[in-house]
Amino acid sequence: MAGNKREVYLDYAATTPVDPAVVEAMLPIFSTDWGNASALYHKGRVANQRITEAREQIALILGCTPGELIFTGGGTESDNLALKGAAEYGLKKGLGNHLIVSAFEHHAVLHTAAYLKEKGFEITFLPVNQDGLIDPAEVQRAIIPRKTSLLSVMYANNEIGTIQPLGEISRIAHQYNVPFHTDAVQAAGQLPLKVRELGVDMLSLSAHKFYGPKGVGLLYLRQGLQLAWQQLGGSQERKRRAGTENVPGIVGMAKALTLAEEKRPQETLRLVGLRDRLLQGIMSQIPGTTVNGTLDPTRRLVNNLNVSFEGIDSEGLLQALDLQGIAASNGSACNVGSIEPSHVIRAIGGVENSAAGTLRLTLGKDTSDEDIEYVLEKLPLVVSRMRALKQSSFA
Ligand SMILES: Cc1ncc(COP(=O)(O)O)c(C=O)c1O
Repeated sequence: MAGNKREVYLDYAATTPVDPAVVEAMLPIFSTDWGNASALYHKGRVANQRITEAREQIALILGCTPGELIFTGGGTESDNLALKGAAEYGLKKGLGNHLIVSAFEHHAVLHTAAYLKEKGFEITFLPVNQDGLIDPAEVQRAIIPRKTSLLSVMYANNEIGTIQPLGEISRIAHQYNVPFHTDAVQAAGQLPLKVRELGVDMLSLSAHKFYGPKGVGLLYLRQGLQLAWQQLGGSQERKRRAGTENVPGIVGMAKALTLAEEKRPQETLRLVGLRDRLLQGIMSQIPGTTVNGTLDPTRRLVNNLNVSFEGIDSEGLLQALDLQGIAASNGSACNVGSIEPSHVIRAIGGVENSAAGTLRLTLGKDTSDEDIEYVLEKLPLVVSRMRALKQSSFA
């Protein structure tokens, strides 16, 4: 297809298309099994049974008990519930009013932490090193014994894909009896999710990041751990999250996670090959390129590439790529339309100039060799045209 325009979607970290097998699993819930899961008659019991089956399937993948899962309206809600829930419960029980979050969390965590700070909680923002990794020694330094009521460090970063050493971090947190939450929204389908092996007490997931529907997610909450519940109303989710259950969404999420886990070994191998080809092509054809975040293959999601191009403004770059049919991002989807440099690039010490020219390319199930070749044909041309235009406007 070289030379012709094609549609290339490289923003799988923003969202993913729903897998046809997931749609198929969801359809009967719309057409026949559409009852309210709280109702006592047959249709209600059937809906309730669908939720029970989905919960059991997911619990098997996470290596937890079904009762440790709380279904939510997505990753943002799960993160809010973990942070606000732990903070308010800790305060009420005299467990301390100090929380620790990493400086490059998704805004679902960062903005919640900022809100809690306004409410009088003490927040420590953990620094991130140049490679985009948290040093467990920093966690140790940040903990205030008997005062820290929560530590939240994401599993894999949504912009630069770096994977945090959860095991080491959890050992430190647990030495001080600090509950440990991880936002694993970007990790599903790419990294192991067994919660006991990860050593986490809470874990957030969002279905639309792994070929499931939007608007549904979950919070794993270790048995015995209490939170102040945020969503008040009916007694759904054992009174932990009120609101009529999104039965099709929950069934779709269970199917999507099952498929993502089945495909994970082959898919990660395939994606790492494509990603590395893309990286080599960009580095060899576009001078003035910096890779953001470590390239250590054990510390970066296989589908993530994040680069900065010297002297390029990233909004213009995204628009120029869009004209070529290439959908990409400059970081978190929530930042689209904003000219603010990404807080993640800032947190890893990237200069503001290069933050402005940041491009995130995230690969997924439909990414092909031809897509990568097409991007490697168009991207260098777009960057050099933009640089030439900038030079001539300064001349
Ligand atoms: C790391 C991370 N956490 C949380 C979220 C929010 O999830 P949701 O879109 O389901 O609210 C996202 C979505 O971009 C994410 O990447």
